[in-house]
Amino acid sequence: MVGDVEIAGAKNAALPILAAAAMTDETVYIENIPDVRDVNILLETMRGIGVAVKRNDRHSVMLNAGNVHNLIVEDEGSKKIRGSYYLLGAFLGKYKQTEVVLPGGCDIGCRAIDQHIKGFRALGAEVVIEHGLVKVRAQHLHGEHIYMDRVSVGATINIMMAAALADGMTIIENCAKEPHVVDVANFLNSCGANIKGAGTDVIRIRGVARLHGTEYTIIPDQIEAGTFMFAAAVTKGDVTVKNVIPKHLESVTAKLLEIGCEVEEADDCVRVVASKPPLHTQVRTLPYPGFPTDMQPQITVALALAKGTSIVTESIFENRFKYVDELTRMGAEIRVEGGDTAIIDGVAKYTGASITAPDLRGGAALVIAALAAEGFSTVEDIKYVERGYEDFHIKLQGLGAQIELVETDKDIQKFKLKVG
Ligand code: EPZ
Repeated sequence: MVGDVEIAGAKNAALPILAAAAMTDETVYIENIPDVRDVNILLETMRGIGVAVKRNDRHSVMLNAGNVHNLIVEDEGSKKIRGSYYLLGAFLGKYKQTEVVLPGGCDIGCRAIDQHIKGFRALGAEVVIEHGLVKVRAQHLHGEHIYMDRVSVGATINIMMAAALADGMTIIENCAKEPHVVDVANFLNSCGANIKGAGTDVIRIRGVARLHGTEYTIIPDQIEAGTFMFAAAVTKGDVTVKNVIPKHLESVTAKLLEIGCEVEEADDCVRVVASKPPLHTQVRTLPYPGFPTDMQPQITVALALAKGTSIVTESIFENRFKYVDELTRMGAEIRVEGGDTAIIDGVAKYTGASITAPDLRGGAALVIAALAAEGFSTVEDIKYVERGYEDFHIKLQGLGAQIELVETDKDIQKFKLKVG
């Protein structure tokens, strides 16, 4: 693939920031939100409980939560996405009570929420799970010194939101440091919160009485950017990802250099050029700034075409190699051992096949593998991919990929005739 691709706003920043926007009764204006399924489902959920939501265009929205009339979040949409659980922290902080359906999200592991519950209880809330709902209630929220038992993006953000409107100082230790954690902290501070240290292991939150409205722009999606950067490596292409923050991509860039790609960085774009098969290497997914778990399928797809044997270890989720079975249909030689380690023997090429996307990032990685494959492929269940990638096939077409959305066998035949 060759060319430039514009990167959208970060889904994993937009979801908590939209929930946090409901923590004030004043109007909030947010720009650079990605037009992806999970974000659109959360906006519908918020509209359903009384938040005024006005979409100005695909990428900007105005919200006003001055007339929320229902603190029980259990619509069908909220069961399907993980982001709905950010309303727990947001409404515990603002209303001192709420009930939210247990979160959904991709099936890549158990997706526990014990650390969220630990944090809410530490701040003084009662938390029970019954009838599929997480119910939180507090007479009074007070600051607390909280030590996370494991690094959790969702729990760090949820506790930070509730603590923003608690009385006194909260210190959260062993925090997640992802760019989207920092983005949520910056958003809350733009609404009048007092949060320091986001992006480090320790976040200090001095609670305030209320939050005011703001205008805010979401950061670029480093995982979407990384996905297109690895697409260049897999297809021996020359791709420039635009509207990115290169600092957020450092671990991705480091691995691309390690496998033999050329990488050029500028202020807000990164160019990746690959002219030969990747070199083999080892990688372990880690919390930021380590190599992201959300990039694990994409690097595996590249390493399956490398000369030699590579090892990919998934240390964050228990079940994030489901796409490997599909990649095997395309000729990859990969053994998953112990559920968390993939031993990859590189092959010369992929061959086209009919495959199925098992989850969001695995699905995107399989599409990229299919674009490097010899012959035709069909990828089923790309609804997973649409959860987190805006216009994925259109952006790939813009890079010269021969890809189309198809509904019927007739569409497939037409596509085959067209590309020959
Ligand atoms: C967020 O999920 C992202 N989702 C995930 O991206 C991402 O993979 C993950 O962070 C790690 O970066 C959203 O932001 C919507 P965690 P989250 O809490 O918050 C365990 C994508 O592809 N854990 O950091 O759910 C958990 O089971 C998605 O965009 C507990 O045990 O991730 C996991 O094994 C996929 N107890 C690990 O910690 C808890 O209370 C990390 O989870 C919380 C988490």
